[in-house]
Amino acid sequence: MSNKEFPKIVLTGDRPTGPLHLGHYVGSLQNRVALQDQYDTCFYMVADVQALTDNADNPQKVRDNMMEVVLDNLAVGVDPEKTHFFIQSQIPEIAELTILFQNLVTVQQLSHNPTIKTEAEQKGYSLQSKFDQREEPEEQSSNLQGVPLGFLAYPVSQAADVLFAKANIVPVGEDQEPVMEVVRDVARKFNNLYGKEIFPVPKTIFSEVIRLVGTDGNAKASKSLGNAISLSDTPETIEKKVKGMFTCPSKVAVTDHVTSEELAGNVVFQYLDIFDSDAGGVEDLKKQYMNGEIGDSVGKARLTQVLLDFLNPIRERREELAKDPAKIEKILQEGIARAREHAAATMAEVREVMKIDYFK
Ligand code: TRP
Repeated sequence: MSNKEFPKIVLTGDRPTGPLHLGHYVGSLQNRVALQDQYDTCFYMVADVQALTDNADNPQKVRDNMMEVVLDNLAVGVDPEKTHFFIQSQIPEIAELTILFQNLVTVQQLSHNPTIKTEAEQKGYSLQSKFDQREEPEEQSSNLQGVPLGFLAYPVSQAADVLFAKANIVPVGEDQEPVMEVVRDVARKFNNLYGKEIFPVPKTIFSEVIRLVGTDGNAKASKSLGNAISLSDTPETIEKKVKGMFTCPSKVAVTDHVTSEELAGNVVFQYLDIFDSDAGGVEDLKKQYMNGEIGDSVGKARLTQVLLDFLNPIRERREELAKDPAKIEKILQEGIARAREHAAATMAEVREVMKIDYFK
């Protein structure tokens, strides 16, 4: 089925659990900035309810980071004139839709979801209940706790996030693709069950650079791994993080030669490839490095400068914006009002086909 009858609506969001970093920038923020000029209706959501699914014991963290992620988005150029900013918890229809969508997804489907499995592991949640286990649980898993129901079900609430707005384009990081598969599944099932094309089946869009390596050489830059450069980092912190970057272990002296395979694992050059617009200059530097003409410090100095040139204006805009909380509140209130209009229209259709529209 095509999405032709649906106007093009873009929706995306972040969990407010920490400051956004360069991995978020290349993975999704720069995409948001580009997409808002291509589509009439764009929504940006602070996923506070989703953040609480594994932070129920730390609501202050989620509260504090709400403003941080909004500032990060505004500072990189997500423009409130083009994109409606709203907060998930302020749209009660999302909670309502989540409950109705829960009937369309199985516990098994969710516990086998690759994103949920990976994230559960990182958080120390066991997806297997003691009753399911034939054998005694192993010693090492004794510190695992059960998985919160809300966390297991967050793909269902993400379906509600996306579908209340009838969004058909969702820019996210590639690690979210299995979750978006659940979102599409809910849209298709709902339309089939209730015999009407209420929801578009949303497409995900990834950016060109889908994953930024961590400063330590780990496959992914992430806040929890402590290997990411935040958009709000001070120049001193940026310099320090670049100094500590993983390079080529075999290069001990400046004069040591390095193969191109080894160079491929060098984080400094991987970042230069992405953030330095002078590709020719970077290629020259790589040759000198491989031929034993320069050591780590030259590449690191260049990268520090490149990142400062990129991040200084972002940090300054962020500081400027942070001085005017009333303006941010107005942006959010307007976005919330707009989101609720879409939500009310969608709920009316959903109640009708689900036959819970008793008193019209
Ligand atoms: N799960 C997303 C993430 O962790 C955040 C998110 C919540 C989201 N709801 C969304 C992204 C809806 C896109 C659309 O990055």
